[in-house]
Amino acid sequence: MASTLTVLPSHTPARLVVFVSGSGTNLQALLDACRDPAYGAEVVAVGADRDGIAALDRAAAAGVPTFVHRVKDYPHRADWDRAVRDAAVAYEPDLLISAGFMKLFGAEFLAAFPQRVVNTHPALSPAFPGMLAPRDALEYGVKITGATLFMVSDGIDDGPVIAQRAVPVEDGDDEAGLHERIKIAERAMLVESVGRMARGGWSITDRKVTVP
Ligand code: GRF
Repeated sequence: MASTLTVLPSHTPARLVVFVSGSGTNLQALLDACRDPAYGAEVVAVGADRDGIAALDRAAAAGVPTFVHRVKDYPHRADWDRAVRDAAVAYEPDLLISAGFMKLFGAEFLAAFPQRVVNTHPALSPAFPGMLAPRDALEYGVKITGATLFMVSDGIDDGPVIAQRAVPVEDGDDEAGLHERIKIAERAMLVESVGRMARGGWSITDRKVTVP
């Protein structure tokens, strides 16, 4: 028989830790949404795997604390994973969001936050997992691609789907232009879904995620 796991945020507003590696436009969309108390969430920390990225500047401009752990500064990947886990645990997050974070979390990180880690991916899962999804979609020749928000599991971009948005591929699209249009849909999807999760929690039955 299928069992259902329900997760309810313990804090009001719900505490978000967001992980970034680049420009941070998804982070910015969340920061902007959190300015409205009715949104029901606050970004309590931003974590990164590298210095000198615009996303960290966005966090600083919003007055949000940051932490940076670079894989190359640790002898083993598991040590990096534990360091990132410990940094995040200190902020008591209700929901952890990988938003353009170009690293996979390890087993010890995920075990600390069961069914509380989500990731946004610029394709319609299960199509085109991995780092080059917009390019792969263009090369395949699909007419519709999009964005997927999913629960992070131990695979690559294959966890239970929380939300998806479709984006048509247009004649003449290049990788950068298509990715920018996907990101517009991706940010809207992220803001809407995270707000609903923050306010009402979420349930998972097998692979099916329900957000009230
Ligand atoms: C997003 O499309 C994300 O899905 C992908 O990288 C992009 C990050 O964009 N992995 P940004 O840093 O949030 O602007």
